[in-house]
Amino acid sequence: MSEAPLPGGFVQHVVRVGATVRRPASAGTAFVGELLKLFEARGWPGAPRYLGIDEYGREMLTYLDGHVAWEREQPPAVYAAETLERVARLVRAFHDVTAGTGLAGAHEVVCHNDLAPRNTVYRPVGGTLRPVAFIDWDLAAPGARVHDVAHVCWQYIGLGPRVEDVADSARRLRLVADAYGLADRDGLIPAILWWQDRCRRGIEAAARAGDPAMVRLRDAGAVTEVRDAFAWVGAHRDVLARALR
Ligand SMILES: Nc1ncnc2c1ncn2[C@@H]1O[C@H](COP(=O)(O)OP(=O)(O)O)[C@@H](O)[C@H]1O
Ligand SMILES: [Mg+2]
Repeated sequence: MSEAPLPGGFVQHVVRVGATVRRPASAGTAFVGELLKLFEARGWPGAPRYLGIDEYGREMLTYLDGHVAWEREQPPAVYAAETLERVARLVRAFHDVTAGTGLAGAHEVVCHNDLAPRNTVYRPVGGTLRPVAFIDWDLAAPGARVHDVAHVCWQYIGLGPRVEDVADSARRLRLVADAYGLADRDGLIPAILWWQDRCRRGIEAAARAGDPAMVRLRDAGAVTEVRDAFAWVGAHRDVLARALR
């Protein structure tokens, strides 16, 4: 069967083969396989199904039909409040599936660790695009609920200098925390800053070490962009924190 490269990945060479997706196996492949099998066993529909390893050693996953929001310009539905609420509820659902399992180990849940519109499949629901699944689980690991929620806030609200209305972003932050049912409100802004700082350092260090994907990201302006986003959240942290109380 023919292979079609899938657009939108920055890191992996991902191809579609019929109704399946193939991606290079990574250090996390065994864990991700177990996680996706857990979702299937529990009937959670928000992730691809794990189909094993193909003859070239690649992970095989089900291809999920829909719109993956990896391009910079997106239809407004991708950022709508209703969409944000649905994202938060989807995250809550898979966190709850993993809580207390061996995969979460001593941690609260299994975190996806890269939740963003570019890793989300949207489908029309009543004529409007809404999030239905997350892809790109290879960074998944045991962690704290607030970590994924913080990543969601950064990436889906787009917290950074491109925000035109800080009060609106603060309301959206509240919306995500409420829709998720987040208990750790005080941890949210520190976790957003932690992600931004870690992301910038990670890209910088890996690019310096010559990792071609990270060199591409850095040269495309990602380091500067993430540093500016970190500074923006720091500058507005009081307004953002107030909205959460
Ligand atoms: N299971 C899937 N169903 C549909 N499309 C997928 C699936 N997995 C990946 N893709 C497509 O391939 C692209 C890259 O895959 P992704 O897993 O996000 O890789 P990367 O780690 O490079 O970001 C995505 O932007 C999406 O368009
Ligand atoms: Mg991706």
